[in-house]
Amino acid sequence: MSQHFQHDVLVIGSGAAGLSLALTLPEHLRIAVLSKGDLANGSTFWAQGGVAAVLDDTDTVQSHVEDTLNAGGGLCHEDAVRFTVEHSREAIQWLIDQGVPFTRDEPADPDHPGFEFHLTREGGHSHRRIIHAADATGAAIFKTLLDQARLRPNIELLEQRVAVDLITEPRLGIEGDRCLGAYVLNRTSGEVDTFGSRFTVLATGGAAKVYLYTSNPDGACGDGIAMAWRSGCRVANLEFNQFHPTCLYHPQAKSFLITEALRGEGAHLKLPNGERFMHRFDPRGELAPRDIVARAIDHEMKRLGIDCVYLDISHQPSTFIKTHFPTVYERCLEFSIDITQEAIPVVPAAHYTCGGVMVDGHGRTDVPGLYAIGETSFTGLHGANRMASNSLLECFVYARSASQDILSQLQRITIPSALPSWDASQVTDSDEDVIIAHNWDELRRFMWDYVGIVRTNKRLQRAQHRVRLLLDEIDEFYSNYKVSRDLIELRNLAQVAELMIRSAMARKESRGLHYTLDYPHMLPEALDTILVPTTYAG
Ligand code: FAD
Ligand code: SIN
Repeated sequence: MSQHFQHDVLVIGSGAAGLSLALTLPEHLRIAVLSKGDLANGSTFWAQGGVAAVLDDTDTVQSHVEDTLNAGGGLCHEDAVRFTVEHSREAIQWLIDQGVPFTRDEPADPDHPGFEFHLTREGGHSHRRIIHAADATGAAIFKTLLDQARLRPNIELLEQRVAVDLITEPRLGIEGDRCLGAYVLNRTSGEVDTFGSRFTVLATGGAAKVYLYTSNPDGACGDGIAMAWRSGCRVANLEFNQFHPTCLYHPQAKSFLITEALRGEGAHLKLPNGERFMHRFDPRGELAPRDIVARAIDHEMKRLGIDCVYLDISHQPSTFIKTHFPTVYERCLEFSIDITQEAIPVVPAAHYTCGGVMVDGHGRTDVPGLYAIGETSFTGLHGANRMASNSLLECFVYARSASQDILSQLQRITIPSALPSWDASQVTDSDEDVIIAHNWDELRRFMWDYVGIVRTNKRLQRAQHRVRLLLDEIDEFYSNYKVSRDLIELRNLAQVAELMIRSAMARKESRGLHYTLDYPHMLPEALDTILVPTTYAG
């Protein structure tokens, strides 16, 4: 039997964004935090490098803002950048107060008395401004926030719950345009339950799983973007898919990132003959923004017909490497690569979704009562290319501003009652799961081949043709068979892929992460690619 639940706030996603929002809301509110796998299954747990923030007295808000604008290829919204950076110190202090064990400067830096934490550097940053917990910052943050959430009786943490679709007034044929909650598959019971809520928050992470090779965990399927789109929200800049330049290249290593902080601490990118090449592409060398480094590697791999390039930090003292990068050191050693002695084979892989659900400064989407925060949202911060370590920062800053907005509206919004149950009367169990698996594979492969680091009109047209066929097939499946996590994710991933391709086709220039051989130059005017659904709620 399916169940009905009622909460003040329904948070879909238990990563940095979702947990932070839940923890910044007052304790008298009943809050549900959902995760479609175990609670740690988002990208947050895997974040390595750290969180960018203005923490050092020699650094300034203006400098962080300028670096972000430069990395963003002219497309960042300066108000969003300034808002995020101005709140960065406060966000880090909140994390420290929650108990996050950031790495300390030992011995203390005599130039910065009073500041006890170590700051590292990453591409595009003109200062050391990345606070971190060795090279496993995400895990440290996630564990701390989860521990705090577990101490709060008003926060229900619900695992193995996959949100299928949002419940809105138009969907129910009721007058109005508000979001009233969500239908959620309980993977244990196999039933789709009804969650009614005064406020619903999408904190579902990105969509990098749309590509065959990615640094992201399996759940990064763009569920929030697809659900919001189907509910009438606009999405923006989905053509900007960030490829991280350095993921471990090894047949047995599934999606393991080699943090950019290695380059921040002096690692060199090299060709198989040991030659450094980044200075041929950008005067900042290995510390150029990510789009430039990933494209340079792609160029060299294609030019020389090689499978990977190499990242070498072995010239640094062995103890320094082992203390600053214990996770990378251990993981590489499992594949018999001793990074204190030899270079690491690396390739670019899909890493971050810069576009997403359009929101304002409070994380409000076009649908009243529906918020989007973290990687699933589009705030305008990242422009055409996200600067390293700005994304966790965005999660914390917008989680707080969204929770403040929810608080300001509490008095006028009541919990919706008597929502209809999910209708499963017309569907049967699927005996064709092999088709779902095949479609998953096909989608991720053609996105990698045709909508990757270098694009052309022809490749995008091919991808569009294929994704439309897939969408028709998936629609038929969805109408006839009971929903499963695989089917829900495939449906969302295909929808987001279609939006990405459409956005890429609409951009007749090369800018930031979107590079096309047909329009290699940047246009004088920087414009967002905004897609409006036919059922637009605004
Ligand atoms: P996530 O942490 O991805 O969490 C998403 C949550 O949503 C999960 O709980 C998932 O179960 C849930 N969910 C999704 N769909 C559904 C659904 N349909 N129903 C129910 N639940 C759902 N950024 C930095 O700033 N610094 C770094 O050092 C850094 N390193 C990174 C390293 C790696 C390997 C990766 C992959 C990313 C890194 N990033 C980094 C990016 C950053 O980690 C992410 O952008 C950020 O963690 C996203 O947080 P989030 O809360 O938005 O989503
Ligand atoms: C990394 O550690 O290289 C990832 C940083 C990021 O994605 O911001």
